[in-house]
Amino acid sequence: MSTIPVNTEDGADLHYDFFEHNCPEVENIVCNPIYESYLKNSTIAPGVLRMAYHDCFVRGCDASLLLEGPDSEKSHPINAPMHGFEAIDAAKEEVEKACPGVVSCADVLQFAVRDVVILTGGCDWRVLAGRRDGLVSNSTEVPKNILAPDKKVSDLLQAFQKKGFNAAQMVTLTGAHTIGRASWFAFDVRIHNFSGDQSKVDPSLPPLFASILKKKCPSANLTKWVNLEVITPRRFDTQYYKNLIHKIGLLTSDMSMVADSHTQEQVYMNTNWQKFSSNFADAMVDLSKLDVLTVQSGEIRLKCRFVN
Ligand code: HEM
Repeated sequence: MSTIPVNTEDGADLHYDFFEHNCPEVENIVCNPIYESYLKNSTIAPGVLRMAYHDCFVRGCDASLLLEGPDSEKSHPINAPMHGFEAIDAAKEEVEKACPGVVSCADVLQFAVRDVVILTGGCDWRVLAGRRDGLVSNSTEVPKNILAPDKKVSDLLQAFQKKGFNAAQMVTLTGAHTIGRASWFAFDVRIHNFSGDQSKVDPSLPPLFASILKKKCPSANLTKWVNLEVITPRRFDTQYYKNLIHKIGLLTSDMSMVADSHTQEQVYMNTNWQKFSSNFADAMVDLSKLDVLTVQSGEIRLKCRFVN
């Protein structure tokens, strides 16, 4: 086992090269099916990246998000649009063939998250490993931990601080919105029902952007999607921050970060690629340490959708 332990929130250890002796090729084994899934359908990249947030903020990074069940986290409406689970299943299946019962789904997910960021042109980081999988997944815990997109910075900060993240880290983590999309539901209030008035549009939206959004989503329609970052939506880059500065961010929560004095400086700082990529890598490592299960707790699930 590696000699570089990292203390996590609960005092247990995660390690780089955790699988050095019992599954040394694990990172390559995960990477191949993730790459194949991405070639078939590139939208798995934002799907898998989003899982890092939705898994780790609810019960810690324990793969509780991946469990099936009528009242599991996955069954909550907030998680209904989550996708890319087949890619994680495919990666886990390959890992089980090579190293049965050794690598948790929580670790497979963290390797896959790093891989999809690289596949979309983003930064690399060393993934800490040694997590174990949770046995519990409870839908009621989702809305308590995952924020709605109409939130302002004060609410966002409070929620992130509760998980140990400062304002700069929060701004950096939401840089994940440089790829992927949002359903009509996430931004409708800005174009059709601002402040409860059906005829009102969010006055902070540039008129051209508002009219494009209205054209794309003329009325309530859950099948309508808009890219979170409208200029280079498939590329992991700094365009998300540049868009916020030009007021063409899709979500109220994202836009509030450029307007608020606690977060504004970091938005501007992250328009620099060197700074953003290094900040993002560090923040993702911190996210991956959140409330993990290690050593004797939890289990190594054989299939990510079910406890053993
Ligand atoms: C400030 C907190 C956050 C809020 C309010 C928020 C909100 C949202 C919303 C509303 C969507 C669209 C979902 C839909 O319509 O189905 C979304 C998508 C996404 N979020 Fe976040 N998010 C936050 C933080 C994060 C973090 C920390 C990450 C990852 C590190 C992340 C990664 C993503 C990705 C990649 C997508 C696109 C998903 C896809 O295309 O399927 N988000 N987010």
